[in-house]
Amino acid sequence: MKLTLSDHLFVLTGAGVSAESGLATFRGDGGLWRNYRAEEVANIAAWRRDPRLVWEFYSMRRRKALAAKPNPAHVALAEIEQQLGDRFFLCTQNVDSLHEQAGSERVHHIHGELMKTKCDSCAREPFPDESTYDEGTALPKCDCGGTLRVNVVWFGEMVSGMERVAYELQRSTAFVAIGTSGVVEPVASFVRALPHRNTLYIGPEKPANADAFSEYMLGPAAEMVPWLAQTFFTAKDDGS
Ligand code: APR
Repeated sequence: MKLTLSDHLFVLTGAGVSAESGLATFRGDGGLWRNYRAEEVANIAAWRRDPRLVWEFYSMRRRKALAAKPNPAHVALAEIEQQLGDRFFLCTQNVDSLHEQAGSERVHHIHGELMKTKCDSCAREPFPDESTYDEGTALPKCDCGGTLRVNVVWFGEMVSGMERVAYELQRSTAFVAIGTSGVVEPVASFVRALPHRNTLYIGPEKPANADAFSEYMLGPAAEMVPWLAQTFFTAKDDGS
């Protein structure tokens, strides 16, 4: 992968980048909750059917995310961003805030944010919220009378900010995907929508869309991403 100070770097991250921070991936070991697959609780039909179950699922995820800390992969990405400034863009599928906690600023949460809540009826702005709603607690209501839900994009719902993402994909000269299985659309197709082939996948196993990548670094993100950052910095220092 060619990565220099004059590159426009688009970074895509998935659940794998937070795995070494103790947050289970969706399709790897430990991806099930009460024997439910994420797809079974993270959708509007499940919400209509049983909002309490859905809030218990996200309450569990909020507690886990609050206990998690950024790992060396998150930190290395923030360091690369410091070098590239506006030539860096990080699109994450993750709803945790570990990238921001590591110092990343140019982060777009295409599947929403776990620590924000919105109303399922009115158009009020999503607001920061770490509350959890377990058995026996009343579900949160909005002033409009609607039920409050977590600000996460559920299966079957539109992803957020595609216009900005498409702009960043088109102006990129380098693309790195980290810890994503390459099965969930539209994100899995980003690597095919680029004006270049300067692409790298980082993760312990090849993703489902592996054929679209020019290079792979097969290993855990917390080991591989700092290595990528180091090679980038070394190249920068000797001006190559
Ligand atoms: N470092 C890097 N990658 C890892 C690590 C690690 N330590 N451990 C696991 N992985 C990789 C796995 O090889 C797998 O390819 O992370 C990937 C996680 O894949 P998924 O669980 O499918 O997660 P993701 O691709 O982010 O899911 C996409 O699906 O469930 C929805 O909305 C949810 O954003 C999510 C979307």
